[in-house]
Amino acid sequence: MNNYVKISNIIKKFNRVITVQGDKSISIRWALMASQAVGKSRANNLLKSEDVESTLTALKKLGVKILKNKKYCEIIGKGLNSYNFRNNTIINAGNSGTLARLILGLLSNSNKSVIIKGDKSLSKRDFSRIIKPLNIFGVKVKSNKNKLPVILKGTNCLRPIYFEEKKGSAQVKSCIMMASLNTPGTTEIKCVNSRDHTERLFNYLKIPIVIKKLSKTHKLIKIQGKNQYNAFNYNIPGDISSAAFFLVLTVLSKNSKIIIKNVNINKTRTGIIDILKKMNVNIRIINSKLVNNELVGDIYVKSANNLKAINCNSELNSRAIDEFPLIFLLCAKAKGISFFKKIGELRHKESDRLKVCSNFLKSIGVKTIEGKDSLKIYGNPNLKIEKKINIKNFMQDHRIFMMSCIAALTLGGEWKINDKNSIKTSFPNFILTLKKIGAKIK
Ligand code: S3P
Repeated sequence: MNNYVKISNIIKKFNRVITVQGDKSISIRWALMASQAVGKSRANNLLKSEDVESTLTALKKLGVKILKNKKYCEIIGKGLNSYNFRNNTIINAGNSGTLARLILGLLSNSNKSVIIKGDKSLSKRDFSRIIKPLNIFGVKVKSNKNKLPVILKGTNCLRPIYFEEKKGSAQVKSCIMMASLNTPGTTEIKCVNSRDHTERLFNYLKIPIVIKKLSKTHKLIKIQGKNQYNAFNYNIPGDISSAAFFLVLTVLSKNSKIIIKNVNINKTRTGIIDILKKMNVNIRIINSKLVNNELVGDIYVKSANNLKAINCNSELNSRAIDEFPLIFLLCAKAKGISFFKKIGELRHKESDRLKVCSNFLKSIGVKTIEGKDSLKIYGNPNLKIEKKINIKNFMQDHRIFMMSCIAALTLGGEWKINDKNSIKTSFPNFILTLKKIGAKIK
């Protein structure tokens, strides 16, 4: 089977109600937390994707029993510190930074060695950001230049730590929170705001956690460790990062509307909605409700024909961190010059998304200025493509592949977009969902 798609037709007007697959961050967290609960936990609508499959495979290697059928997934936990595995067990985190970083936290008190490895993209990413706090807990971690493979030798005398997380990384914060579960005493994290699914899960499971708002941008989290929690059932909402592709497709298409049902609209993830509003888009949330301590709702959006450039406030950076490739595409079609600052974290994703997106926009005729941690985009509301475009996607980045498909379906031209298989990471139904609303994709 070919590992590329060909798109040479703009999508025709549509008016649809759709759903997207389960949230990746929440699916991985559910599985990891269920693996140390006491009893049988069940998740409905768990994301079926490679990152979640890598998580379940990793847990099985650690001796956790997992039952799966078409409708739900069940994990039988035996409590904190109950993993049962051989010394030097190898865990392959595949493409998933979330799995690699969070599981290292959970394994910090095992006194056997574990080796975490990953695919080509994950092996290029920085692990110093979690090695530092784990070292302070008393864990020994070996790696070559802070890259995978990482060898972790845990300890059963973890010391509680105080750590300042300065990047606004939910993976770093959550790694520390996972380690705190098996640590006696109070672990404290002063952090820049980022997605708060782990905090919400801890609260939901009645794990002793206190969260204090320090300012608009910072908070202090205190967790009392060594408190066993019980098994729990959970409904995984749709992933706003997957929904975002359809929001932007609708905005950039002519005379179209969409409702995306049952999406996680946690405030720490809805930066894309605020950015769309600022750019003049008619977008609304309907039917919002709290489900398992996460806000869920339906998102309605219409085509826009007068997109405005944006000077993006850096408070939005972590709230839209995975949506920047799409936001940059929107800016290419907006009137005026858009500016993004303090977005250097984009260089540390599945690919260097700052560089890749800047080069992508240049290749479709849009002027950009790429700074060390900033990007300027000179928008053109009349942007149309008439030539052949070949997207190489060297790092097999799922979000670059999907954003390129949205560009092809809205800007014209003849596109060949490589690495279709990358969608298996987060949104395997992406192409199927596009076809359902009328996209012609070969
Ligand atoms: C994630 C956090 C973000 C995000 C990633 C998923 C998570 O990464 O980009 O796709 O599930 O915690 P950082 O925490 O490194 O910003």
